[in-house]
Amino acid sequence: MKLRILKTILWFLSGAGLTVILLRIIHGPGSVSALTDILPWGLWKGGGVVALVPIGGAGFTLAALVYIFHWDRYKPLARGAVLLGLMCYSCVGIGLTFDIGIWWRIVYPVVFWQFHSTLFEVAWCIMLYIGVLTVEFSHAVVERLNMPRLLALIKKVSIIFVIIGISLSTLHQSSLGTLFLATPYRLHPLWHTDLLPFFFLITSIGLGCLTISWVALLIHWLYDAEQPMDAISGLGRISAIVIGFYLVLKFVEIFIAGEGGLLITAGADTVNFWLEILLSALIPVVLLLFKKIRSSPTAMFWVSTSAIVGVSLNRVNVAGLATQSATQSVYLPIWPEWSMTIGILSIAGLVFLFCVENFSVFPGINKKRVVQAYESRRVDLADWKTFFFRNPLANIRFYSMAFIVATGLTFGCLPDDSVYGVKPLETPTQGPRIVEVLRVASTDADLGASFLAASSGQTVADARPANVMSIDGNRDGEYVLFDHAGHAARLGDKSTSCELCHHMNKPLDKATSCHECHSDMYLAVDIFEHELHVDKLGDNAACEKCHSDPAQLKVRANTTACEKCHQDMRSGRSLVGVAGPDKHSLASGYKDAMHNLCITCHKKQQQLKPAKDTGAGLAGCTRCHQDLPKLTQQTWKPGL
Ligand code: HEC
Ligand code: HEC
Ligand code: HEC
Ligand code: HEC
Ligand code: HEC
Ligand code: HEC
Repeated sequence: MKLRILKTILWFLSGAGLTVILLRIIHGPGSVSALTDILPWGLWKGGGVVALVPIGGAGFTLAALVYIFHWDRYKPLARGAVLLGLMCYSCVGIGLTFDIGIWWRIVYPVVFWQFHSTLFEVAWCIMLYIGVLTVEFSHAVVERLNMPRLLALIKKVSIIFVIIGISLSTLHQSSLGTLFLATPYRLHPLWHTDLLPFFFLITSIGLGCLTISWVALLIHWLYDAEQPMDAISGLGRISAIVIGFYLVLKFVEIFIAGEGGLLITAGADTVNFWLEILLSALIPVVLLLFKKIRSSPTAMFWVSTSAIVGVSLNRVNVAGLATQSATQSVYLPIWPEWSMTIGILSIAGLVFLFCVENFSVFPGINKKRVVQAYESRRVDLADWKTFFFRNPLANIRFYSMAFIVATGLTFGCLPDDSVYGVKPLETPTQGPRIVEVLRVASTDADLGASFLAASSGQTVADARPANVMSIDGNRDGEYVLFDHAGHAARLGDKSTSCELCHHMNKPLDKATSCHECHSDMYLAVDIFEHELHVDKLGDNAACEKCHSDPAQLKVRANTTACEKCHQDMRSGRSLVGVAGPDKHSLASGYKDAMHNLCITCHKKQQQLKPAKDTGAGLAGCTRCHQDLPKLTQQTWKPGL
């Protein structure tokens, strides 16, 4: 019964998690997380990856104890530990895939080698280690498949894989710590130390012993099997020694670094630190010293729980929680993030249970035990309750129902942004303003003039006042000075120059200002308004003016061309090319419109007369973008 309930819950959580994952794949992480640019390592990377790796440390710790030191006492837990490691690392891999912005780039470390990056090392170690764990666990699978030759081969080479596995683990357990050496100003000093890599390694060994104990206790309880207390209490002792060593070293380090005072400084970080030390080290070490506690399944379960929560808290602190006071920003994971994280863990849990039931993972849990655990009592066809709940198909029914209900519920509860994707922020634009500046002829004639604010008070020899345009579409104070009259004059005749830049006009207008159509700073906006046209052209009578053939699809390509009615809308000889019919009335973002007009021409000019200093040439950013003083009401002038 407990197994059924647990599995139903796990299926439910998997369904909820997979729904969020699906939406995240389609719309990106922004739609289902509260991550920001300042705190981009959220629940999954900070909590899941950094905290799951030491939990998976059980694999290499037990492999070392059993296959290198030959302590047969721990043999009953060795396979379970390898499987636990495999599950944790697979979760890390899958979780990371969904935590990076563009998920298909998860393979980049394989293709692009970046030797200076700690993450590069971590990525490779984790990838290789998943491979090694798979080979190590394949023992159990091959055994079940009854392939004696293959099994003999695997047994022969397995010691090599064990050694490789242990080396890889020690490498990346510590280099996860190395990663955070780069954050001395971000991470609170109680956590940041040069010993971080070493601390990460030894806590992972100490915790590894306890996580496999925790899992073994739980699994044996679930299948009503006898607890392997001999191995578990032995692991408890090893763990007490290792974590005790860590505890001493941690405080010695804090006092040597002269940070002892921080231990009693009032504040959230201090409370957090003591809570972490209490759960991860103090409580487990003190309790594990007692033989009575080490040999009691219940006590060992709770001691292990405390250590798992404590060490996970430590990793979460280092990866993010203990940096919030320095970054002054708060990040609270929203429920879809929890759902995704817990969902992936639930799937791993189901796979773990599947392996336990089908391969010989724990010697105490054999086929007979498994059958007993699911034993359905008698079915009475007349009693719907027994028929429904004890039917041989009841399990599958429950699991699939839990899964489907979870997907539906998740879809229903998610906000619109998660289901349909985050709507891009709109940034409406406004027209230019006229300001008075001093025009200074450049020493390099090819670069044109430069401008000085009229109010700057500087006296420059051949400066003369001029009225120019200040272009600042989104009104964020970062403006570009544009000599409108100068450009028009340079381009020739007043009657023809205008349309070179003003490539399109609204009805009854000439040289329409760009912001009227390029009305958003960054997004493309359609200038065609269907409602307005139906309105102006006479409601239902209007339709056939544009949709002349009712049999055809009502798409842009099949409708009357805009130019049929708006003869003056498009100028004949403009610098701006005409887009294809599908993008015909889609005006690009204001910034792109400016850049694509201005820079294209400036580049052409530069090629005609190459500047001596190309970096600051006519097409260089600084030609238009300079550190200019804030504009004030007094400097604006009305109209052109
Ligand atoms: C048709 C080509 C062309 C386009 C389009 C164009 N420019 Fe220019 N721009 C020039 C030329 C030519 C010069 C002057 C070079 C010289 O004096 O030799 C110049 C000079 C400048 C200067 C230096 C100051 C001056 O007036 O001499 C700035 C600033 C500038 N342009 C900004 C812009 C901006 C902003 C845009 C877009 C809104 C733009 N330009 C569009 C051709 C163009
Ligand atoms: C080098 C390109 C260029 C040329 C040539 C040009 N303009 Fe402009 N014009 C602009 C830009 C850029 C703006 C700013 C539009 C905006 O931000 O909405 C502008 C704005 C305007 C505005 C609106 C000013 C306001 O306050 O809203 C008018 C009117 C205008 N131009 C008329 C003309 C006329 C008339 C000519 C021909 C003599 C001409 N332009 C030639 C690029 C040009
Ligand atoms: C009447 C509306 C309208 C006005 C006014 C207008 N545009 Fe456009 N613009 C468009 C549309 C629509 C497109 C899409 C291309 C097409 O239909 O040919 C476009 C395309 C462009 C492009 C090419 C697309 C790209 O991003 O490279 C540039 C550059 C551009 N506009 C610059 C300007 C500048 C500069 C002004 C002001 C001097 C201006 N536009 C005024 C509607 C307008
Ligand atoms: C001024 C020309 C014009 C008139 C008048 C007009 N349409 Fe359209 N219609 C268009 C264009 C252009 C599109 C393509 C819009 C697009 O691709 O964004 C379109 C698209 C449509 C669509 C498909 C777009 C969608 O929202 O799925 C329908 C349906 C439609 N028109 C119905 C009508 C009806 C009904 C009338 C009369 C009341 C009408 N139109 C009048 C130009 C016109
Ligand atoms: C059947 C004729 C017809 C066709 C085809 C047509 N329009 Fe129009 N359009 C009109 C009329 C009429 C008006 C109203 C003019 C007025 O305000 O007096 C108008 C107004 C506009 C306006 C001005 C809106 C405003 O804010 O004042 C824009 C922009 C516009 N049309 C763009 C387009 C585009 C883009 C297309 C092609 C996809 C198009 N039109 C096709 C008849 C047409
Ligand atoms: C020929 C002139 C010109 C050159 C050269 C130029 N820009 Fe711009 N840029 C503009 C104009 C005009 C705008 C619109 C300014 C506004 O509305 O605030 C703009 C806007 C921008 C914006 C958006 C500003 C905002 O408020 O969001 C960015 C970012 C930008 N440019 C970056 C660059 C970079 C980087 C380069 C060099 C590769 C460059 N620009 C070269 C003319 C130029």
